[in-house]
Amino acid sequence: MARILVTGAAGFLGSHLCERLLSRNDAVVALDNLDPFYDTQRKRENLAILRSAGGSRFSFVEADIRDGRACREALRGVDAVVHLAALAGVRPSIADPVRYMDVNVTGTQVLLQQIDSDSVPFVFGSSSSVYGASAESPFAEDGVTDHPLSPYAASKRAGEMLCLAWRHLRGNPVACLRFFTVYGPRQRPEMAIHRFAHCIAHGTPLPFFGDGSSRRDYTYVDDIVDGIVRAMNRVRGFSVYNLGGSSTTSLQQLVEVLEERLGRRAVLRRLPDQPGDVPLTCADTSRAMRELGWRCKTSLREGIDTFCSWFEQREAAEVSA
Ligand SMILES: NC(=O)c1ccc[n+]([C@@H]2O[C@H](COP(=O)([O-])OP(=O)(O)OC[C@H]3O[C@@H](n4cnc5c(N)ncnc54)[C@H](O)[C@@H]3O)[C@@H](O)[C@H]2O)c1
Repeated sequence: MARILVTGAAGFLGSHLCERLLSRNDAVVALDNLDPFYDTQRKRENLAILRSAGGSRFSFVEADIRDGRACREALRGVDAVVHLAALAGVRPSIADPVRYMDVNVTGTQVLLQQIDSDSVPFVFGSSSSVYGASAESPFAEDGVTDHPLSPYAASKRAGEMLCLAWRHLRGNPVACLRFFTVYGPRQRPEMAIHRFAHCIAHGTPLPFFGDGSSRRDYTYVDDIVDGIVRAMNRVRGFSVYNLGGSSTTSLQQLVEVLEERLGRRAVLRRLPDQPGDVPLTCADTSRAMRELGWRCKTSLREGIDTFCSWFEQREAAEVSA
């Protein structure tokens, strides 16, 4: 049984990762400050799932990653660290860039600094946004990453750089994982798939940015969790891996897939392209396949179907509450 510290554990990705770790009998120390970026009740519900799945193998530390003392306590006796705590999302980072830098950059440094064993592997949750408007598609890990289009993207790239410096100075094995638009049950409510499903189900206007041709590489959450676990187990030196579905879906197609699954037409509210958004994301995942034996297994239709089943159940529970 390994003991793993997961930061951001109450959130979307973190809670799925913790569930997987607990299911394979690991002990999980979950650190999260329950940031109110979205309804904290959702995070408390995620924690309740983890408590019931893990029993005494699950412990929760309500703390901020910028609190060095709390991080040091949480790190005691751990065999690996997965750092997912962050302020996520491109658009809100434009409104509050200083806070994004403080949490995502300073917070990452504070956490790294508290790791006192040089053998503890560190997995950093990075993002496809580091590629900016890269012309080279599919995006490979060695491609251009010095043209971020938002403070969020810059903060994730800075986090990777801090990890690299830490690896150089302290020798810990480090994997930076660039996640490509993750979706699935418990997805953050402001993310496109969740927000669009809500608009379609309630017949409210769906914010449709640009002409619908922007394309995203959507990745199902279980596949991402699989990649995180593989990186945690196998990382030796310093490595960067793309974790993405390797196929792209246009905004127009995404809306159509959701309409079909939910059995209702969307009411589109057409809006101009958003500053900070990139026109395309598309992962080259050959490195993750080669070195981690990872591949994305879930098609968009399968993943959307599972997401919608979860969404419908939650909606029904809210109505009857
Ligand atoms: N979801 C995606 O599509 C996606 C894509 C690329 C990268 N990522 C990265 O993956 C990670 C998880 O994303 P998510 O979608 O699960 O987001 P999320 O907001 O659901 O989870 C992040 C968690 O971090 C916590 N947190 C925020 N600030 C904190 C602080 N100062 N101290 C302690 N905890 C703090 C929040 O309370 C939240 O529970 C983030 O680092 C994000 O940047 C996500």
